[in-house]
Amino acid sequence: MRRKVIAGNWKMNNNLAESQNLISKLITGLSSQKTNCEVIICPPFTSLSESSTLIKDTVIKLGAQNMYFEENGAFTGEVSASMLKSVGCEYVILGHSERRAIFGETDELINKKIKKALLSNLKPIFCVGETLEERESGITKDVVKRQVTGGLKDITVDELEKIIIAYEPVWAIGTGKTATPAQAEEVHAFIRELVTGLYNKSAADNLIIQYGGSVKPDNAAELLSQPDIDGALVGGACLKADSFISIIKAA
Ligand code: PGA
Repeated sequence: MRRKVIAGNWKMNNNLAESQNLISKLITGLSSQKTNCEVIICPPFTSLSESSTLIKDTVIKLGAQNMYFEENGAFTGEVSASMLKSVGCEYVILGHSERRAIFGETDELINKKIKKALLSNLKPIFCVGETLEERESGITKDVVKRQVTGGLKDITVDELEKIIIAYEPVWAIGTGKTATPAQAEEVHAFIRELVTGLYNKSAADNLIIQYGGSVKPDNAAELLSQPDIDGALVGGACLKADSFISIIKAA
């Protein structure tokens, strides 16, 4: 059986004091219950170091929301994989649809980032997903196939073990419009089939595929009960300790 992984993508929210506050509520809330799933928080860069200190000796793990693929140098405004490692990150979200749409990230760039993250011992949470227009034109699977194949180019089967794929239909992100469990399951099963073809069945069987896009306490359990949905990448609902903990409980 695959484990369940719930990750909170804070996006550009929470200054240092707000981050401390949210983490202390999460720690208190989670300490009174048994968690069967893996829990990851992905605060903004400015809160990573402090977050790492606060979550030490708890079940919560740390991830970043982005990184650049170069080791260091003249890349103003960018952060490297080794910098993320140095502040305690274990995971990094790569290829989020907001990075693709707002900051022009391509499959090729995302592939370079995934390779660099792996080389640096960071586990990528690699995001894919179609826009509303793409879904309505019936090309969801073509888009997801292009993104998965492009992002995983030249990644070995051993490296794949360290990668989580997050399927996040763009039309469901931050819109309150969740994919139905059946819609999500269909694409998750498709991704697993794709990975079977690219690698092998055992690699695909072991792959964690999260769903993301308006996951809330009231829809999490049903989504997470689908056979190919192994967790959630949560945006809006992870900013309140109560709702994030409810989603963790659902898993
Ligand atoms: P949302 O965001 O839960 O607010 O839809 C999910 C994401 O973008 O990772």
